[in-house]
Amino acid sequence: QNPAIQPRPPMGFNNWARFMCNLNETLFTKTADAMVSTGLLAAGYDNINLDDCWLLKERNSKKELQWDPDLFPHGMPWLADYLHTRGFKFGIYENAGNMTCGWYPGSQDHEEIDSKTFESWGVDYLKLDGCHMDLQKGRSYYEEFEYRYKLWHKIMGDLKKPFIFSQSAPAYFSPNFHLDKNNTDWYRTMDWVHNNGELARHSDDIKVYGLNITFEPGGHWESMMNNYGMEVRLARYQSCGFYNDPDFLIPDWPDLSMDEKKTHFSLWSSFSAPLIISAYIPDLTKEDIEYLTNKEIIAVDQDALCEQATLVSQGEYIDVLTKNLANGDRLLTVLNRGNHTSTTEVSLHRMGFINVGAYTAKDLWTGGTKKFHESLEVKLRTHQTAIYRIRPTEGVKLEVTPTGMIFNTF
Ligand code: GLA
Ligand code: GLA
Repeated sequence: QNPAIQPRPPMGFNNWARFMCNLNETLFTKTADAMVSTGLLAAGYDNINLDDCWLLKERNSKKELQWDPDLFPHGMPWLADYLHTRGFKFGIYENAGNMTCGWYPGSQDHEEIDSKTFESWGVDYLKLDGCHMDLQKGRSYYEEFEYRYKLWHKIMGDLKKPFIFSQSAPAYFSPNFHLDKNNTDWYRTMDWVHNNGELARHSDDIKVYGLNITFEPGGHWESMMNNYGMEVRLARYQSCGFYNDPDFLIPDWPDLSMDEKKTHFSLWSSFSAPLIISAYIPDLTKEDIEYLTNKEIIAVDQDALCEQATLVSQGEYIDVLTKNLANGDRLLTVLNRGNHTSTTEVSLHRMGFINVGAYTAKDLWTGGTKKFHESLEVKLRTHQTAIYRIRPTEGVKLEVTPTGMIFNTF
């Protein structure tokens, strides 16, 4: 990881979970315009990323990738310029294997030429997927991934300005995807991706609307909970410049309640995860924009320590996560996974504090502050999450136990 490239988790837009291959130039220009007018850009969402299916099926005579001119009539340099002028970075999708997941040309054995093409188009951010990996020179599946992702990293280092590098490699070894149920290759992949780029997708796709593209049954809530469960296992890998990526925020799915959407945002922010929205931005409601631009919660996501909150306790329904924040506050995030309203008492010890005394809890959703001594009572509706900044009152010395345990729960 290189904090100079991406000092804080990236925020922005990607078309995939909402539109899949139904993309074109107008979608991205309209999205950019709406991100400016709704205040999303001002709130920090400054990446606009194209996913799969922007390409022609054939390379040109110089073996270069080509954009599909029917979808992108003005071309990628024009689109990059449109986005740059408005203050966005421009992200693109390619694949480390010989075809993208949507069966367009992949970059395998074309890494050098593709990096130059992207650079000439003004690309700032590359999401590199891992479908259709061709095993070469006797390499194993795992070794081919390691070789290709490291090769891309090396080549990008020679560019004038390396791209923000989002690596999908670990997702191809994740517990739901890979046959190795001991997860050895998943963790082995994590061992090198954090020194090889800025982001790592580590789990399944957040479910795409109307298509059962993920491998586990269930809808968007289940899909979000699945990726949450994967993310908590990887907290130790994160540090400023490298972020575990549990996939997109999906604010316009009709099957998610407002509490569930706010839970998604609260958990991802507690993790200091990338906040990449996959939705039709021009049609987001006022309420959606309001929660997505919550300044105090975005500040937790973008906190200067870049810590990923860890799960410090888990009940039948209630998960408690905590982390340190740069100004000395302690974050407290409490999730109700259950189907009923629940009340729980979270003690100072459970939050990780050593010293007893008076503390204040600032509720980042309501803005309200309350004082407490031994424990904080938290009442939550089904699938609701509370997120607090906990601060000792004057005279109480702040001391925190070493980072909480990480439970493997799912
Ligand atoms: C390539 C070429 C461009 C244009 C596009 C169209 O990138 O270099 O000049 O033809 O393809 O897809
Ligand atoms: C994979 C990725 C998705 C998306 C599609 C595109 O499934 O995980 O995020 O990029 O490929 O085909």
